[in-house]
Amino acid sequence: MCKNLQTLVEPLTLRNGAVIPSRIAMSPMVVEGSSKDGFVSQQDIDYFQTRSNVAGLIITGAAVVNENGRGFNYQLSVSDDKYIHGLAKLAESIKKNNSKAVLQIYHCGREAVIAYERLGEVIAPSAIKFPFLSYVPRELTSKEIKEIINDFGRATQRAITAGFDGIEIHGANHYLIQQFFSAYSNHRTDKWGGSLNNRMNFPLAIVEEVQKVVKKFAKADFIVGYRFSPQEIHGENVGYTIDESLQLIEEVIKRKVDYVHVSIFTNYNSHPQGSTESFGQLVRKQVNGRAAVIIISNIFSAIDAANALDHGDIVAIGREALIEPEFALKIKENRIDEIASAISKESFSRLALPDRLTEWYLSENNSLPPLPGVDSLR
Ligand SMILES: Cc1cc2nc3c(=O)[nH]c(=O)nc-3n(C[C@H](O)[C@H](O)[C@H](O)COP(=O)(O)O)c2cc1C
Repeated sequence: MCKNLQTLVEPLTLRNGAVIPSRIAMSPMVVEGSSKDGFVSQQDIDYFQTRSNVAGLIITGAAVVNENGRGFNYQLSVSDDKYIHGLAKLAESIKKNNSKAVLQIYHCGREAVIAYERLGEVIAPSAIKFPFLSYVPRELTSKEIKEIINDFGRATQRAITAGFDGIEIHGANHYLIQQFFSAYSNHRTDKWGGSLNNRMNFPLAIVEEVQKVVKKFAKADFIVGYRFSPQEIHGENVGYTIDESLQLIEEVIKRKVDYVHVSIFTNYNSHPQGSTESFGQLVRKQVNGRAAVIIISNIFSAIDAANALDHGDIVAIGREALIEPEFALKIKENRIDEIASAISKESFSRLALPDRLTEWYLSENNSLPPLPGVDSLR
């Protein structure tokens, strides 16, 4: 086995002492398996139980901290104590083979299309007409901003009660936290907008609130992760650059998170324009061992995963975890040739994918990253 392949399945001790059994993570994915009001369903349980050997760190799809931040009809909710019972069953099924179970917590902000349908309005840092939205979001008041920060704290407390090993703050993919950090989306003139420092206030207030709750209610090795998109550049519209992002990550790290998770959709070795170092390498240099760095994207084999270790401490798989539920186990058992890298008609029945995820992938013009082999299911 080559050196990096061996390293992939060696345990990793995080800053807080938590030991992850391998350096492979399953990335958060909303799979539309939950009930319409956000309760854990049997499909969610089956999906995660089937994947309890996929990785050492298993992160759930985004769970809403408040129903006014809902972006998908059938996604998890952690917005009320009534969800704890189901979430506890989910955590148990993830931990079946000693992997760490992490709940991703989020608020969709302006992208909360389902909140728009159900509640009639959508909230965001600023009331801007975006070309890609059919509505104009309402600007949050300072009081509401504080409430949402508290929602992240309450969600963390529920995750602790439910038996999760950690939470991941979803600061990526253009959702509310990123909207506050982005100069393109945040035109506020109070302490929550304007200068780079002010635009950091919302993400950092959430990290601090989460840490306050963790200190009070969780065991010392409860994991806190932070996911972020390393830059936001759309042609002329610059939300923030990689340099600004690294400044945010510096502040996040000072607040003692256990890992930072770089969210990219292109490739694990992608780099900012003009840089010879990849996003992962730049983040790693900034973090300098004070937290683990998770890297992701387009990893569909053991060799891809081994190569990705040059860009992060932990390698995450998203779509590959849908395709190959025993990814980490097969590497550990030296069965890398048995790792599937595309869905097939034959494997499909063993994958326990929620029905709506399959329908979503088979629907015309879906906006999902392509799933290798999905056409074989038509
Ligand atoms: C069906 C689907 C749902 C996703 N949902 C989330 C989510 O809830 N939270 C998140 O941070 N990223 C989400 N993502 C992004 C993935 O976590 C991952 O970053 C992306 O798919 C790239 O990794 P990959 O090339 O290994 O698939 C989703 C991706 C897919 C395919």
